[in-house]
Amino acid sequence: MADLKAKLELPGNKSIELPIKQGSDGFDVIDISKLGSSGYFTFDPGFLATASCESAITYIDGEQGILLHRGYPIDELAVDSDYLDLCYLLLYGNLPNKKEYDAFVAMVKNHTMVNEQLASFFKGFRRDAHPMAMLCGVTGALSAFYQDSLDVHDERHREIAAFRLVSKMPTIAAMCYKYSIGQPFVYPRNDLSYAGNFLSMMFAVPSEEYKVNPIIERAIDRIFILHADHEQNASTSTVRLAGSSGTNPFVCIASGIASLWGPAHGGANEACLNMLEEIGSVDRIPEFIERAKDKDDPFRLMGFGHRVYKNFDPRAKVMRETCHEVLKELKVNDPLLDVAMELERIALEDEYFISKKLYPNVDFYSGIIMKAIGIPTSMFTVMFALARTVGWIAHWKEMLDQPGHKISRPRQLYTGETKRSFVDVNDR
Ligand code: SDX
Repeated sequence: MADLKAKLELPGNKSIELPIKQGSDGFDVIDISKLGSSGYFTFDPGFLATASCESAITYIDGEQGILLHRGYPIDELAVDSDYLDLCYLLLYGNLPNKKEYDAFVAMVKNHTMVNEQLASFFKGFRRDAHPMAMLCGVTGALSAFYQDSLDVHDERHREIAAFRLVSKMPTIAAMCYKYSIGQPFVYPRNDLSYAGNFLSMMFAVPSEEYKVNPIIERAIDRIFILHADHEQNASTSTVRLAGSSGTNPFVCIASGIASLWGPAHGGANEACLNMLEEIGSVDRIPEFIERAKDKDDPFRLMGFGHRVYKNFDPRAKVMRETCHEVLKELKVNDPLLDVAMELERIALEDEYFISKKLYPNVDFYSGIIMKAIGIPTSMFTVMFALARTVGWIAHWKEMLDQPGHKISRPRQLYTGETKRSFVDVNDR
């Protein structure tokens, strides 16, 4: 590629030339790693225009509403692939052939159980503890059980940790739910699919046989696909930053879970459903639309807007179709969906939302589907974390696979006191 450069003019008639790095798609970047020699750093809180790394896993074109995983469009993957097929793609870079797929599925199935001691961690929680609090704590505690695969510089250890996390997250997620409703934990069943096994661990009870509904099984698998990865979002960037110190993958994923919990991020699906319930009926929508526009009101329309998408979130489109399929199959007539559809219609026609390019995002419809399936609102972000685990791990592995990666350590613009001398407390 051509040897492109950017020239920065600085005060005092100084200037500096900076190399431009070109990617395979999307924005090229100005490499500022040597900028410090000029006496300046860049300033970009929130990373609005700053790339933190090179990555080949996922590409988003926010203007066009395009999402590619290793080059494959999300709407094709959501319809034609399945979650474990996508996990292999994200982790290894290509879709598996039949032999590779079967071996990967077998490997994941052989790691679905957790150490029996892990169950005792739950006893320390109140029954009404938020499932995300339990998920974060128990996932971090996995690092106390797998001393045999904590050498992050050993590729085989990284691969084993990836299998363990992809395999065990559904088991732990379901344990969080079972504990919160006072039912016994259900062991994984390797005769079921990844989504089917999750449904069984969530809803089976010892007193009767559990039958997986294939429509719900497909809907759950599609929800996992749509949430699997999304470039350098807040939780993925958290996992990369934590992992850059060389700490073990289990606590890195726990840090990703912590970041995802926020209502501006993965917590939006739970917040969106709570918002729909607060709106309650179609005739109250205008009141909430006005509140969302009011600069003095912290209220925002949960499930709308996105840092990157300034067009429809392609995942929301697929989720919307799945939402109607599930509600039709379950013969659910959910008034919240009526509120959601009317809110979407009004918001998409409103000048404020049009001018700020605020469209429904992935969280807008996922909550309605999960509620229809019988998953409680408090478990919505747990579902998101379960699905995103493979994305977090893929980025963690990619970072460690890159030769010469360094610990991440941002700089700052210091605005505090300049140097001053200490004064004894009796003289202050
Ligand atoms: C996810 O990064 C990812 O990829 C995340 C994610 C993933 O898969 O990992 O896609 C998952 O987190 C989706 C987003 C879920 N969050 C929500 O639905 C919460 C509601 N949305 C907002 O909080 C907001 O849109 C964000 C946080 C998603 C994005 O915020 P930005 O990019 O920092 O934009 P901003 O807050 O500066 O908003 C720009 C303008 C502001 O008005 P002005 O200051 O320009 O006048 O748009 C307004 C905002 O007030 N705005 C909204 C709004 N979102 C933005 N106004 C009303 N309702 C909203 N939802």
